[in-house]
Amino acid sequence: MYVTTPLREALAAASEDQIVYDLPGIAGRYAALTRELPGVSLRFAMKACPLDEVLTLLAGCGAGFDAASPQEIAQALGAGAPVERIHYGNTIKSDRNIAEAHRLGIRDYATDCVEDVLAIAAHAPGARVFCRLATDGEGALWGLSRKFGCAPGDALTVLETARATGLTPAGLSVHVGSQQMTAEAWQAAFDRLADVLAALGRRGIHPDHINLGGGLPALGYRDRYGRPLEPPLDKMFAVIREGMRRLRAVAQSPLDFRMEPGRHLVADHGAIRAHVSRLSARRQAGGERQHWLYLSCGKFNGLYEMDALQYTLEFPAHRARGDTERVPAVVAGPTCDSDDAYAHERALVRVPRDAASGDPVWILSCGAYATSYTTRGFNGFSPLPHTWIRDSARGGADG
Ligand SMILES: Cc1ncc(COP(=O)(O)O)c(C=O)c1O
Repeated sequence: MYVTTPLREALAAASEDQIVYDLPGIAGRYAALTRELPGVSLRFAMKACPLDEVLTLLAGCGAGFDAASPQEIAQALGAGAPVERIHYGNTIKSDRNIAEAHRLGIRDYATDCVEDVLAIAAHAPGARVFCRLATDGEGALWGLSRKFGCAPGDALTVLETARATGLTPAGLSVHVGSQQMTAEAWQAAFDRLADVLAALGRRGIHPDHINLGGGLPALGYRDRYGRPLEPPLDKMFAVIREGMRRLRAVAQSPLDFRMEPGRHLVADHGAIRAHVSRLSARRQAGGERQHWLYLSCGKFNGLYEMDALQYTLEFPAHRARGDTERVPAVVAGPTCDSDDAYAHERALVRVPRDAASGDPVWILSCGAYATSYTTRGFNGFSPLPHTWIRDSARGGADG
């Protein structure tokens, strides 16, 4: 469990459903990451939490942005980020998307194939491109493999094509998979980057930066069986620092580093105040009796990732009165959709036996991807309103 004291206080003060973001908490996580990885400029992956308040905060801290579309680029500019600190980080772009980004002043584009390079050369002439190397996604909750990135040999062709078409072959990137749980995945990514960097050097191509992507974990998740996920964050940082030293040694010219954290910056600093819709006990088709705890919010209005992990739930009213009697239940959202439930019917969550409709429930560490994945009102359940902690006199986290 990871939750800051101000977040806990804000949840306690909320009498209606809402998602609360702890802005000083996000700024604190940003500052901690810059301390851990000196020499890395951070570009927040906007998709993880594209809320103006969060973007303005991070821009004010000095962050740049990884944008996935012209719409995100425009939003990043509106949040006050200088255009040179924004890049187009999506390898998937139409001609029209590229032309629009170019019009907005974007210089740096992710790519992973010759077709995309030719389109960038046509619609954003003279741009800088960085080539995303494929990773296998092993060790991550969301692998992000296959759809993106190319093999080392293709990366050479891609960047040679960029050079030949008047673009600047400016960099290489990787993404080790979102909520990556192993330091070994980072090690493997650096091995691959070192090989490609050396091969590019032999062809007279000297990238000026490496983009290490996202993948850094949230600290407060549980896996789909309810076991706390404990990523070896310090070990990951050590591998990344050492990998950077190694790549600088391989490169034949100065090398900058960028990173695109999303989840790591915002997940633990957003939490939902929801309420119990109903706790029921029904015989299932197989004859066994099963408790179901239906919450007022679920997959379609905040908890999209509930099929891959369990969020930590707290029942403050029951805790306050010392009520410890629990029953194992499947946790689910309020819609008429059977996907709207925690993944695994055998991975039951222990919930208060007398949970009553209307009782408050706190859902912790759900600040990443909650607002961006929310539907516009599936089944009539509206997106949750956002509230903000802007100034926390007291910090600290229960972990
Ligand atoms: C290109 C890119 N960068 C960064 C991120 C952020 O990843 P994470 O939330 O794991 O930090 C993503 C997530 O999908 C991505 O596609």
